[in-house]
Amino acid sequence: MGFETLLMTPGPTNTPERIFKAMARPIINHRGPAFRELYRSILENLKYAFQTRNDVFPLTASGTGGVECAVGNIVAPGDKVLTIHFGIFGERLREAVVRFGGKPVDVSAEWGENPSIEEVERALDENPDVKAVATVYNETSTGVTWRAIKELGELCQRHDKIFIVDAISILAGDELPVDEWKVDLCIAGSQKCLACPPGVSMVSVSERAYQVLRENKHRPFYFDLESYRSFAYERMETPFTPVLTLFYALDEALKFLREEGLENRIRRHRLCAEAFYEAFDRAGLRTVSKPENRSNTVIVLWNPPGIDGEEMRRMARENHGVVIGGGAGKLKGKCFRIGSMGIICQPFVSRTLKAVFDSLSKLGYGFPEEPSKIISEVEGKLEEGLGRLPPLSL
Ligand SMILES: Cc1ncc(COP(=O)(O)O)c(C=O)c1O
Repeated sequence: MGFETLLMTPGPTNTPERIFKAMARPIINHRGPAFRELYRSILENLKYAFQTRNDVFPLTASGTGGVECAVGNIVAPGDKVLTIHFGIFGERLREAVVRFGGKPVDVSAEWGENPSIEEVERALDENPDVKAVATVYNETSTGVTWRAIKELGELCQRHDKIFIVDAISILAGDELPVDEWKVDLCIAGSQKCLACPPGVSMVSVSERAYQVLRENKHRPFYFDLESYRSFAYERMETPFTPVLTLFYALDEALKFLREEGLENRIRRHRLCAEAFYEAFDRAGLRTVSKPENRSNTVIVLWNPPGIDGEEMRRMARENHGVVIGGGAGKLKGKCFRIGSMGIICQPFVSRTLKAVFDSLSKLGYGFPEEPSKIISEVEGKLEEGLGRLPPLSL
């Protein structure tokens, strides 16, 4: 695979050639038949990716646009919203609620942890007038996946609350059956597990969400989901000019996902993440997350004591062509982040481990066992696991 530079940040991530090639096409009329065919294909395949029978709309905006869209359609000034946060993206979700005039009711946890369902239940009992519950599923700043979305969905349904989930850095990289887990508005991003370039977010909308948003006179103009719905149903078009080139990319990325199969993609993500965790555990590095809430897609590690993480990242980039993310928010300078997403595969895992281990060695880190032995053993196991999945045609 010709990846001279390997982009191992937690999004954007590496994009395969077939997706680049799909973008090298002429711009078409977005009010004509060629666009309608493209849009129909995207809408159908998004339902597959989200495991939903409801609508899923691709938006001309990065992930944050999807968050604004979901929040803005539901939240009107004065509405109470249960905002759950345990990292920077949860805090941003809360900020979106505030910007639309909502009154946040906070349920939070230390970074690296996640709250408990009981805390959410208590907050709902104490605040029966909240309109919605909003959370991040995979907190990209800490590498924590809160594995309670199904329970939260049931809780929201029992309490008759709209359930908003930011799944930007996890959709297609871990389990997320949107309908089965009763998520009303689910947000994904193109540049993560779908291996697309950045610039498109996607939002699913349940019937319950439509009922609520139709009543919201303050919903946004550009991101009006009712308008997205009527344009799609009546003409198979978007309300405004879509980012056509990225729509080509998204269409190809979704076809690629269907070919591989969602289950296989999730398994591939899990196997690669497990390989990373095993290697880092054996090397004596510590994750910010706990073993029980470790993410399948974003691996966040504390800088080892006495090691300059920024220098390690520079060496990995300059000597190995492997780009690793730095700490985000209050973890800046304290940890480094690896995106194990999209077309993550054994050669990418091995190359990243080599880059990190070699740089740490040169900076004087004492490994508890020979780093090359760790890599070759982990590599062998990963190869065996991935060998049971269909090969990737990039
Ligand atoms: C969980 C989560 N939410 C929101 C965002 C924001 O997405 P974007 O930077 O594409 O606007 C990100 C991006 O990393 C994310 O990981």
